[in-house]
Amino acid sequence: MDSVWKNNVEMPKFPKLERNVKTDILIIGGGITGILTAYFLEKCGANYILVEKDNICGGVTENTTAKITVQHKLIYQRIFKEKGLDAARLYYKANAEALRKYVELCSKIDCDFDLKDSYVFSRDDLGALEQEVKILKKIGCKAELIYNLPLPFHIAGAVKIPGQARFNPLKFLANISKGLKIYEHTKVTEFMNDVAVTDGGRIKANKIIIATHFPILNKHGSFFLKLYQSRSYVIALENAPDLNGLYVEDTENGLSFRNYKNLLLIGGGGHRTGKNGGNWNELRRFSRKAYPEAKEAYHWATQDCMSLDGIPYIGQYSKATPNLFTATGFNKWGMTSAMVASNMLKDLVTEKSAPYAKLFDPSRNILTPQLAVNSLEAISGLLTPSVRRCPHLGCRLVWNKDEHSWDCPCHGSRFSESGKLLDNPSNNDLL
Ligand code: FES
Repeated sequence: MDSVWKNNVEMPKFPKLERNVKTDILIIGGGITGILTAYFLEKCGANYILVEKDNICGGVTENTTAKITVQHKLIYQRIFKEKGLDAARLYYKANAEALRKYVELCSKIDCDFDLKDSYVFSRDDLGALEQEVKILKKIGCKAELIYNLPLPFHIAGAVKIPGQARFNPLKFLANISKGLKIYEHTKVTEFMNDVAVTDGGRIKANKIIIATHFPILNKHGSFFLKLYQSRSYVIALENAPDLNGLYVEDTENGLSFRNYKNLLLIGGGGHRTGKNGGNWNELRRFSRKAYPEAKEAYHWATQDCMSLDGIPYIGQYSKATPNLFTATGFNKWGMTSAMVASNMLKDLVTEKSAPYAKLFDPSRNILTPQLAVNSLEAISGLLTPSVRRCPHLGCRLVWNKDEHSWDCPCHGSRFSESGKLLDNPSNNDLL
């Protein structure tokens, strides 16, 4: 089923590329990251084009819950423990700048943008919340610990950060993308050094940005080891309360809440793609109990790229590819991370200094426990016999009975029942 955003917004249309072209900067991927990068390049007078294999915003961008916040569960204590206080401060600064940029842009665009307080709540771990507040205060964030929320269950407490935001992402992007140099229905099928071969012509570019959610080029960067994908589910309820804020649970697959107009959006039921999880059934069970008067108006699912250390990969694709860039691994924080990424990519490809480049460097240390999990999953997927194999790197595919799709547990490619590609990194349909 389509998301509430998709049902209510008409996106602008763009032509297909039908000739060979040259450009300084080629952006591949017409989701929020690609479009924002194109927007900033347009504003600084750069020579660029963006190509999208289907329609713009037809992938994960249209399935977000559209929260814009510096608060990404309890990320600050994780960064503090693993990389130190300066890294936590930089992560905060990058995301706070992204939020400010949204405030500035959205003040001129009708996109249902408003500021709301954001909360990460825990049902049982007050100590972790206290620790988060302590670190947030040290890095200059006005966070506070509170003990009551308008949620239909008991909480131990919550970390509150005031002045975060929510919007309608497709209304925003429909406006931002007007007049940009975009080609839709233009699929990159091959890379030949500085040339991207598409089904409509060759594009010679000095710099290439791959903004395809999961990077589609396997030869460099080892993203098939550095990322896995996670599915999560959303239901939108009518006749449910206005909770007046943005709420996320501290646990890996916990619940999230935000309102949009007369709807309450509840997220959760998540799991690694290709594995079992709570999905919509879990959310429906919860909502029947918590809001018995409510009625479901929409339901949809989304797919997130999860990095090894909880920090996105933004920058040079690999050490060996100085003119190739990417942005991925936004975890569950795609809106804010896309703004961080597009500002950084604009600076990197126009050779300005990018103060956060080291923190988000895709070639940073990858020796983490999650690397072992990803590697084992890939070995198991490759060795387990099955009738259908994934065109990406050959892992088994698993039938997803709730969404009627073939899903790959290795890196998260998905295909419809008839074999049409739904989610990359595979760049091809299932034969
Ligand atoms: Fe990589 Fe399937 S997504 S093998």
